[in-house]
Amino acid sequence: MRRRIPQRLVRAIMVAALMTAGFNPALAASGEDIAHSGKGNDVPACVACHGEQGEGQPDAGYPRLAGLNAGYIEHQLASFADESRRNDIMAPIARNLGAADREALGSYLASLSPPKAASQEAPDQALIGAGQVLAQRGIWSKGVPACAQCHGTSGLGVGGAFPQLAGQSAVYIANQLTAWKSGGRGNDPMHLMKGIASKLDDKQINAVAAYYASLPIGVTAASKASEAKQ
Ligand code: HEC
Ligand code: HEC
Repeated sequence: MRRRIPQRLVRAIMVAALMTAGFNPALAASGEDIAHSGKGNDVPACVACHGEQGEGQPDAGYPRLAGLNAGYIEHQLASFADESRRNDIMAPIARNLGAADREALGSYLASLSPPKAASQEAPDQALIGAGQVLAQRGIWSKGVPACAQCHGTSGLGVGGAFPQLAGQSAVYIANQLTAWKSGGRGNDPMHLMKGIASKLDDKQINAVAAYYASLPIGVTAASKASEAKQ
């Protein structure tokens, strides 16, 4: 039988986690405003594509933003603006956001934890199984490290540098790995991901993407805080 964790303890851990993440209610409120209403004529509402609560649209390749690390989100917006990460949809949006807007959006989106958005694609268990082996063990003969080494054993990510992959859209994950291979995404620290993605073929990319998309999200602030402490 599972032991119940006292609610008071859960709340204390959640508050601590939000504080360590630099959570600032005023900033988050301004982020919420941009996310839902856009800004001026050039920045559309983020929710139009990324979902009302940042849950994403998995089959369209619009990533889930809810619960991602605030610093990571800020960095990606800066990268779309300076085109070290090339994307025709996000570039004009990011160019029209200032540093304070990026910070506010990161703070707001990081604080959300809606359930995983449903995909219309039926899960392919064989593909997911192959992806799991790759994610947890890597491919020694090709020098591919286990993804879990950096992205966490359950894919929940580690700090601001290593993003969460669990519950992310499979289409989106596959697009990112392909973008690193082709040079469209070049903003990663020390080009860790370019080196890894270049060694994966399309089948392996689809397998590992299906695996991470299949994982539960479990990104309450409380579960992240307890994982970080282990
Ligand atoms: C018209 C649709 C659209 C709108 C509106 C939009 N996005 Fe995006 N966004 C995308 C797409 C598509 C991608 C995936 C790009 C890629 O494949 O690299 C993306 C990617 C991102 C990412 C990268 C996520 C990651 O895990 O690295 C961030 C951050 C982001 N968007 C933030 C925003 C914010 C903040 C807004 C509002 C100010 C916004 N987006 C508005 C379509 C949109
Ligand atoms: C040595 C550490 C390391 C390993 C191992 C690693 N990654 Fe990453 N990964 C990173 C870093 C760092 C980033 C963030 C890049 C950035 O800031 O743009 C990242 C980002 C990603 C992203 C983008 C997520 C998003 O929201 O846009 C995907 C997808 C990804 N990795 C998949 C994988 C897969 C699949 C594997 C295993 C085959 C793997 N990674 C192994 C370090 C690693």
